[in-house]
Amino acid sequence: MKNKYRDLIEQTFDFPQEEFKVEKGNLYFRGLDMMSLIDTYKTPFRFTYLPAIGEQIEKCRVWFNTAIKDLNYDGRYRYCYCTKSSHFNFVLEECAKHNTNIETSSAFDIDIVIALFKKKLLKDDIYVICNGYKTELYIRKIAELIDLGFDRIIPIIDNFREFELLDEIIDSKLEIGIRIASEEDPKFEFYTSRLGIGYKDVVPFYKWKIKDHKKFKLSMLHFFVNTGIRDNAYYWNELRKFITVYTDLIKAEAHIPYLNIGGGFPVKNSLAFDFDYEYMVREIVAQIKSGADSVDADHPDVFTEFGSFTVAESGGMVFSILDQKKQNDRENWNMINGSFMTTLPDTWAINKRFIMLPINRWEDRYERVFLGGLTCDSDDYYNSEQHINAIYLPEFKKNKELFVGFFNCGAYQESISGYGGIKHCLIPSPKHILINKDENGEIVHFEYRKEQTNTDMLKILGYE
Ligand SMILES: Cc1ncc(COP(=O)(O)O)c(C=O)c1O
Repeated sequence: MKNKYRDLIEQTFDFPQEEFKVEKGNLYFRGLDMMSLIDTYKTPFRFTYLPAIGEQIEKCRVWFNTAIKDLNYDGRYRYCYCTKSSHFNFVLEECAKHNTNIETSSAFDIDIVIALFKKKLLKDDIYVICNGYKTELYIRKIAELIDLGFDRIIPIIDNFREFELLDEIIDSKLEIGIRIASEEDPKFEFYTSRLGIGYKDVVPFYKWKIKDHKKFKLSMLHFFVNTGIRDNAYYWNELRKFITVYTDLIKAEAHIPYLNIGGGFPVKNSLAFDFDYEYMVREIVAQIKSGADSVDADHPDVFTEFGSFTVAESGGMVFSILDQKKQNDRENWNMINGSFMTTLPDTWAINKRFIMLPINRWEDRYERVFLGGLTCDSDDYYNSEQHINAIYLPEFKKNKELFVGFFNCGAYQESISGYGGIKHCLIPSPKHILINKDENGEIVHFEYRKEQTNTDMLKILGYE
């Protein structure tokens, strides 16, 4: 009878997959024996597998450049990394090695660009796309970057007030962009995004304020839908409206060499994940081409600001199962030695699901369980996967250790959980392991950050 965990996975999915395989009952992630990491560092730990970042960037470039070539598109593709998905130096350095441009969202982001520039890791000829609500400090930092020689810095206007502030603070000539406020998905609580300028206002604003401006030139149109790039009627409808604003601007004699379609490329969040990236890219480029051709405009360069897509697949979390609590005949709670709320906050805040797999005991029988976190909050749990309203793990045995991994969670979880800060119920931030490949292609790893100590926390709280 097929009743091992391994059978369950092999019967449910196409398995093994590119990043996951099992040997002698243990899980390997991108060729790395996860049990060896556990033996070395002990759980819980967060990990970042750096080579995945470059692989994502290059894969994406191939999709866009192939579509551009096949469609005889005259513009170029320009990859920007959206820093807010993960601000770590090791992430930005990896992006810099792959010559990405950068998208920023707040004042301190500019300090990151300056720090990399001073370390000679970034050149001043990259595009820096400044999104987000511009405070005075943010605009002053943009001015600092211009003074350092960055001449491809493009602030994206989010609101009318911001334009006036930019005019007051920046003295030099500058290319700017406008973010179009998309209509939200019909299931959402609002009609129009609070981010950006409404569709109907863009052309009048251009004519009124920008067309004859002495310093500023409108070069980029930007849009981003909250739900991301999906093959559904809502996304195609928003893209069509975006292209219509672009063609209306061309008719109003604007010259727009850059279109920015924002972030939102999906990330593998289940072993059953199936998204046709190449088809989507080709279709987007084809639609932009047809819009530009309809008004005889030069094909604009296409910018993207993929954050999750760049970093999510590089990150993971590993926990041990401490114990099993049986609360009634049907509910078995496997308690992890950490917390979902404080390490993977999106699981709690927006019910996000990641790939969850046991690290060992794949040859053992399985059972249905709930996973519980260590905080006293009843919301600190995980009980379903992307493809099914349940989770299964090898049977809990008191004398047989069991480890679970959450994969592809390298985007936003650190910043939203307040990496290293005060944690719910004072459950410490886990240690963080960096994994890379050396010059011979061998996997190497080290402890980037130790587990948070009681002293760290008491100090923040003012006891030390
Ligand atoms: C303007 C902008 N660009 C890019 C992104 C990145 O989105 P994602 O991580 O889904 O690629 C975001 C995310 O909020 C955003 O607001």
